[in-house]
Amino acid sequence: MKYISALLISIIIFSACNNSEENQDTKPNSNDKDSTLSEVDTTLDQHTLSNYMDVRTKHLHLDIEVDFENKQITGSVTHTIENLTGADQIVFDTKGLNILNVKLNGEENTEFTMGDYDELLGTPLFVGINENTETVTIKYETTEKTEALDWLVPSQTAGKKQPFMYTQGQSIFTRSWIPLQGTPAIRITYSAKVKVPNQLLAVMSATNPVEKNESGIYEFNMPQPIPCYLIALAVGDLEFAPIDHRTGVYSEPSMLKDCAYELADMGEMVNEAEKLYGKYLWDRYDVIVLPPSFPFGGMENPRLTFATPTIIAGDRSLVALIAHELAHSWSGNLVTNSTWNDFWLNEGFTVYFERRIMEAMFGKDYTDMLALLGYQDLVRTMSEEETDMQKLKLQLNMKHPDDGMTDVAYEKGYFFLRLLEQTAGRDNFDAFLKGYFESYKFKTITTEEFKGYLETNLIKPHKLQVNIDEWMYSSGLPENCPKVVSKLFNAVEANLEQFYLTNDVNSSIFSKDWTTHEWLHFIRNLKEGTTPEQMKLLDDAFKLTQSGNSEIAAIWFEKSINFGYDNIDKELEAFLIKIGRRKFLMPLYTALAATPEGKEKAIAIYKKAKPNYHFVSYNSIDQLLGLK
Ligand code: BES
Ligand code: ZN
Repeated sequence: MKYISALLISIIIFSACNNSEENQDTKPNSNDKDSTLSEVDTTLDQHTLSNYMDVRTKHLHLDIEVDFENKQITGSVTHTIENLTGADQIVFDTKGLNILNVKLNGEENTEFTMGDYDELLGTPLFVGINENTETVTIKYETTEKTEALDWLVPSQTAGKKQPFMYTQGQSIFTRSWIPLQGTPAIRITYSAKVKVPNQLLAVMSATNPVEKNESGIYEFNMPQPIPCYLIALAVGDLEFAPIDHRTGVYSEPSMLKDCAYELADMGEMVNEAEKLYGKYLWDRYDVIVLPPSFPFGGMENPRLTFATPTIIAGDRSLVALIAHELAHSWSGNLVTNSTWNDFWLNEGFTVYFERRIMEAMFGKDYTDMLALLGYQDLVRTMSEEETDMQKLKLQLNMKHPDDGMTDVAYEKGYFFLRLLEQTAGRDNFDAFLKGYFESYKFKTITTEEFKGYLETNLIKPHKLQVNIDEWMYSSGLPENCPKVVSKLFNAVEANLEQFYLTNDVNSSIFSKDWTTHEWLHFIRNLKEGTTPEQMKLLDDAFKLTQSGNSEIAAIWFEKSINFGYDNIDKELEAFLIKIGRRKFLMPLYTALAATPEGKEKAIAIYKKAKPNYHFVSYNSIDQLLGLK
C-alpha cells in the first residue's frame, strides 16, 4: 500500500470492496438481456478484474523509457476510453507495477485506489471518471516482480556486448508491464514513443524502424485494433535484413545472415496463406529471432513474430513454426478468442492453417509427417491431462490460462477442423473458412458463437452430420477422429523394427538422407527397454548427442535419460543452461526428476540455468521440481 497516503486508507478500503463487488455484479448484467448463468460463464472473461463491459479502452499511447541499469520500464500510458454505460469509474488490471499518479483528460492529478492483490490476476486499479472523461493517463514503473519482461545481460546474448529486453504478453502478462484492461475480449489500437539507450534498437508489434538512430527514441503505431496480449516490445543490438517486399528478419548482427537464410521462404508463405484464406491485412510480416531464453517457439505478435533461435537449424527444416505464427495473422490476431476458455479457436485453427500452408509449399508427404507427429502429441496429452482439460471448450475458472494451453487446443482443435474438411469436402470447407475470417475480422469470438456460425454456414447448407458437441464439450478423442497415414513414417517404422532385430546401424536400413521429421519419428518411437548399449550404437553412427537441431537433440536427450544412457551429460547440461524454451525444458526436467539421483542432477543444473529463463519457464519448472 505504499502508493497511497495514510489519510486515504479508509476511503480506499471502502471503495475497493465496493468496487470489486460492483465489478462482479455488473459483469453478468451488463452483458445480456436474459442471460442464464451458464451463458454468462461462457462469454465473460474471468481473467480480468477490469470493468470492460461498462467502460473500455479504444486506444492507448505509451510514452516510456527502457532503463537497463535498473531493469525497469518507466513512463506513462494514456488510455482513450469509451464509456458504454455511463460508469463513474474505470478499473484496470495491474500486476507488480508501481502506480505513481493518474490524470484525467491530461489535466491535474486525480485520486486512484488499488484493490486487493490476487495471486493470479494481480491488483485492480480504480480510477473515478465522469461523463467528460476522454483520456486517463497513468504514470507508472515496472518492478522486479514483472512477469512479462525478460532482462538479459550482455553475456546472455549472441553478441555479448549489449543488454537485451523483450516482453511476452500472452496470456495475461501484459498487465505486468502496462496498466490496462487485461482481456482478449476487447480490441485496442496503440501508439508508442520508446526511449532506449543509444546503440540499441527498439521494435514492437507495430510499424517498425529498420535501423538505429542517434536519439534512441523510436515511435510506433498499430492502427489495427488488437487484443492487448499482442502488444509487444523488444530492445537490443538488432539489425534488419529484408526477405521480400513485405517480409524480413531482425536479429542480433552475428546471427542475421543465418536467420535470413533459414527464413528465406517467408515471402512465399505469406503469398500461399493469402491464396487460402484472404488478404494479409497487417501490411508487413517480419520476424525477430530472439536470444535463446525466449520461452516459446514463436509468438504471433502482429507484424512482428517473436521467435526462438532454436528454429535456426541450418537446413530450413523447422520453418513450420513460422507458418504457424503467420497463420495467426488470421486465426488469433484477426479473429480472437473472447476468453482463454476458447483458446482452441486461436490455436486449433492456426495448426490447421499452418499445415495447409506447409502442404501448399512442401507437399502432402511433408505435411502428413507434421500431422502424425501432432497426433502422437495429442495421444500422449490425452493420457496425461485430467478429463476436464481434455475438452476444447475449457472451464478454467480460477486456473491460470497457461494451464489450459495444451495439445488439446492445438491438436484436438486441428483434428476437429480436419474432420470438418473431410466431411464437407476441401472446397466447401475452404470457402467456409474464408467467409469465417471475413465475417469475424477484427472481432472476438466464443466457442458458442463459432458453433452457431458453423451450423448456419457449413453444416446446414451442405446437410452434414457431425458430432460437434462431442468434439467441443467432451473429454477424450471422439471415435471419428481422422486417421493420418504417412508413407515416410511407415518406412521409418520398418527401420525401427529392423534395428531391434539386428542391432545393425550400418546397413542400408538407415537412410542417410532422413529429414528432421523422420529422425524425430524414429527417436520418439524407440521402445521401452532400449538398452544404453543400443543407444550408444545409434549415437556413434549418427552423432545424435551432438545434433545441432534442437528438436532432434531435445527428444534424443529425453530418451537417453529414460534409458539410462549417460554419455549425453555434458551436452544435456549445456542445452538446459543455454535454452529457455519451455517445450524443451519441461520433458527434460520431468525425465530427470523421475529418479532421486536424476532429480538431484536436475536441481543442480537448474540452479545454474534459471537466470537464463523467462518467468514463464522458471515458474513452470519451479512447480515441476517442487521448489515453489
Ligand atoms: N501463441 C502461441 C504461444 C503461446 C501460447 C504463448 C500460449 C503463451 C501462451 C504460439 O503461436 C505457439 O503456439 N507457439 C508454439 C509453436 C507452434 C508451432 C505450435 C511454440 O511456442 O512452441
Ligand atoms: Zn499458436
